[in-house]
Amino acid sequence: MRHWISVLEWTPAEMADLIASARRIKAGKAPEAARLRDRILTLVFFNPSLRTRTSFEAAMLRHGGHSICLDVGGNTWRLEHRDGVVMNGDCAEHIREAAPVLSRYGDALAVRTFAGLRDADEDAADRVIRAFARFATVPVINMESASEHPCQGLGDWLTVEEKLGAARGRRFTVTWAPQVKGLPMAVPHSAVLAAAAAGMHVTVAHPPGYDLNERILAQARAWCAAAGTGLTVTHDQAAACAGADVVYVKSWGSAALYGRPEAQAESFQKHADWLVRRRHLGSHALLMHCLPVRRNVVIADDALEDPRCIVVDQAENRMWAQAAILARLLPERAV
Ligand code: CP
Repeated sequence: MRHWISVLEWTPAEMADLIASARRIKAGKAPEAARLRDRILTLVFFNPSLRTRTSFEAAMLRHGGHSICLDVGGNTWRLEHRDGVVMNGDCAEHIREAAPVLSRYGDALAVRTFAGLRDADEDAADRVIRAFARFATVPVINMESASEHPCQGLGDWLTVEEKLGAARGRRFTVTWAPQVKGLPMAVPHSAVLAAAAAGMHVTVAHPPGYDLNERILAQARAWCAAAGTGLTVTHDQAAACAGADVVYVKSWGSAALYGRPEAQAESFQKHADWLVRRRHLGSHALLMHCLPVRRNVVIADDALEDPRCIVVDQAENRMWAQAAILARLLPERAV
């Protein structure tokens, strides 16, 4: 049984097949979409969402399936994931029971967790979603974990393919941007991995001290090398954006400042001039962001109002990419 937790467990060729499937599903020409019919997807959220929740529910409904949405600590019990703990705190239920129980009701489990933003190694281990995968008996889908947002990455790849004809050989720049509070690295990790797997030239720009996870970068470098492209990391935002075909904007926190919110806020202030404006798009770059975006903190109005801003197309393509993932993971029915 395959899970969609980390793209490090998938090959670029397999992901390219998912992109082809997403395009067929979007065009209404995909027999594989029938796999969603009469199926039940259980969505488990540890954090809020607008796009992820709605796009998964819409993907299921549009193809004859159903979804059940649980907000952990809201409409369901708080969940423990650690082994061997005395559960005398806030968590009334363990994933050891919750995951197999939910597996009896539905055909796949989709889970959103967030980074703790206290310990980068702990976040990289992605223990909560890994616990679901360990105890579930149905496929588990990552709806954004501490370390990756692979559904976002796949939807972004689909969007670039649609807008530019082919992603391969294009210049894809991921630029850091300021924020008001620390955020995880899951989205930039997945943007870099998807761009590398798609065969793009990848540049990552961020201030000193905002390094992404080295294991993620190493995998992206390997995929770039296999495609005959490369991955560059720079602290020069203007140079990184110059000549880019895509400027992909995302804020993330500094691992060195985890647990120090005041220092993190000061650092964001110090780098407020990394705000992305229309001029960063140069002559022809498309502007991408996963949303939600804080206007005039992360990206200026002039860039978000530019016709080259494709953030809404990106958000739509989450639905088609996720339908392709579900069609790939849900087992075929016996006839
Ligand atoms: N991009 C994204 O995952 O959006 P939500 O947090 O609203 O789901």
